[in-house]
Amino acid sequence: MRSLQLLGVYMASSMSVAAEPPLPATEPHSYANPQQIRVREVALDLAVDFERKRLSGTVDLAIEHVDPKARELLLDTRALDIEQVQTRAEKGDWKAAEFKLAAPDRVLGSRLGIAVPGDAQSVRVRYSTVPDASGLQWLTLEQTAGKRQPFLFTQSQAIHARSWIPLQDTPLVRAPYRARIKTPKGLRAVMSAEMHDEPDADGRWRFEMPQPIPSYLIALAVGDLAFKSTGKRTGVYAEPSMLDRAAHEFAETEKTIELAEKTYGPYRWGRYDLLVLPPSFPYGGMENPRLTFVTPSVITGDRKLVSLIAHELAHSWSGNLVTNATWSDFWLNEGFTTYLTYRLTEAQYGQAFGDMERVLGYHDLLDSMERADVADRSLIRETPAADPDEVFSSIPYERGELFLVWLEQRFGREAFDAFLRGWFDDHAFKSATTAQFLAYLQDKLLARQPGKVSAVQLDAWLKVPVLPDSAVLPTSSALTEVEQQRERWLSGKLGTAKLPASTWAVQQWQLFLDSMPQSVTREQLQQLDARFKLTGTSNQILGSSWLRLRLAAGDKSAWPAAETYLLGAGRMRLITPLYRALAKTPEGLAFAKQVYAKAAPGYHPIAREAVERILRGEQAGV
Ligand code: BES
Ligand code: ZN
Repeated sequence: MRSLQLLGVYMASSMSVAAEPPLPATEPHSYANPQQIRVREVALDLAVDFERKRLSGTVDLAIEHVDPKARELLLDTRALDIEQVQTRAEKGDWKAAEFKLAAPDRVLGSRLGIAVPGDAQSVRVRYSTVPDASGLQWLTLEQTAGKRQPFLFTQSQAIHARSWIPLQDTPLVRAPYRARIKTPKGLRAVMSAEMHDEPDADGRWRFEMPQPIPSYLIALAVGDLAFKSTGKRTGVYAEPSMLDRAAHEFAETEKTIELAEKTYGPYRWGRYDLLVLPPSFPYGGMENPRLTFVTPSVITGDRKLVSLIAHELAHSWSGNLVTNATWSDFWLNEGFTTYLTYRLTEAQYGQAFGDMERVLGYHDLLDSMERADVADRSLIRETPAADPDEVFSSIPYERGELFLVWLEQRFGREAFDAFLRGWFDDHAFKSATTAQFLAYLQDKLLARQPGKVSAVQLDAWLKVPVLPDSAVLPTSSALTEVEQQRERWLSGKLGTAKLPASTWAVQQWQLFLDSMPQSVTREQLQQLDARFKLTGTSNQILGSSWLRLRLAAGDKSAWPAAETYLLGAGRMRLITPLYRALAKTPEGLAFAKQVYAKAAPGYHPIAREAVERILRGEQAGV
């Protein structure tokens, strides 16, 4: 009942300018002790070794003795080989430091305790990563688009930065970072930072992120990368064979930035580039600052899936500028971002298009609510989840979004826009908790328009496992039409040839396929396939929806196509529904295990975990 109490305090003090509650000193997903010694700057010097699948070198951490008496710096690590630790006083020499690496915890990794003298200002750790580091994926030539060079990328969110950098791996701690990365000749390194077009004389790429960011936003990729500009602040990095298609798909990004700036304030990060990853990238996108990482599965040629870019861009305000202070506050990142995304999408592509996306998001929410444990159905949990990866679902995204839509409706769009803008401005480059958001909400909206929203209602949004009845549910006439056509088609009133599906956007197809009633017959699915050539479509989003449907209908003739698909894709959202559909029968599960054995070496470590949970019979998650 923690939040209810907190809420009570801020509701009670509604007449005064409520001071925001302080940030917690620590959080459950990190061993760090920033309340005693805090990392203020991070400087990496790493070499990339594709043969040994290792990053090795040093990280220098500038530290501040927050508590002058503190003599131990606690860092997060996971499966790192720590070779040497040194400390240095101002203008002094590096001196060997004692350190202790604790036994590993399955989720959190190993605490690294370093003895630091009172006058130490920097700590240097010499280390290398292990080949199966959870935050890295090392790809062979065959796993890339060009098949000529290997590829490496990091994925640090939520708690994987510690598997490639020893640091205070918690969003409570923000620091600017610098890096020097030595790559094999012919390969380019890119990071979530200011970059240079050429390496320096000794073959190192240099980077600098001057703004303080949380550790989960430190990102690196190395490969055969080319760049194409698409606007005054925007461009695309991709393997050369993908570059033109990617630049065409994402050509309208500058416009999205301008729209976001109009409502939410200036874009504060300088450039906004995109990096197109190989298909094994486990997410749709990752909002690494200045350089969003994006799945190639949204490059379809028709720009119909670019709301993913709006989403990652929106994190430049909700997430990167104002950051969830702990992983229990994840909805502050994703719920806000989902709300901003729909707003940007409707501003750029029209209300009707935005409505389609909202309805699909709502369907995802219902699906997630059904599969999630009760504890994970609310926006904040009673006790923190053990592993943030395990509880990942659409709930913080779409329920968080519906909460903000509900507030918007209560206070009016104009007031609510101003409120959000103020939240971003007043917390820029800071981390924030749900309790701080509630205090700010109380101060800036509730106290000014009293009687519109009660503490009980807020608690229902945040803490109760079911969705409040007052939720403002989205509707889309374009999708309702598809539902009606589907009904007539299912009952035989509308022939397959008469379905107007050749004009459908992928969103309409998604609705048509993803919420198909179980009564659909295999013959009907065959007719669809014969008419619209869905098996083997080059649209990976559609491909996943279609194959899931065939598998769910028990159609074993879909198995070879499913196998091909699962060997060629790696985005969790696309592959897990297929594994889940197969795992429903003992025979399907046996086949899924066979396919997985072949596909696993190409999957990202996080995707492997997710699929293995399904094959073990755990249903929740992505
Ligand atoms: N930050 C997330 C991805 C993420 C979340 C990585 C948690 C690791 C842990 C990113 O912004 C995101 O939400 N991606 C979505 C995009 C979609 C909602 C448009 C995805 O990958 O599906
Ligand atoms: Zn996101």
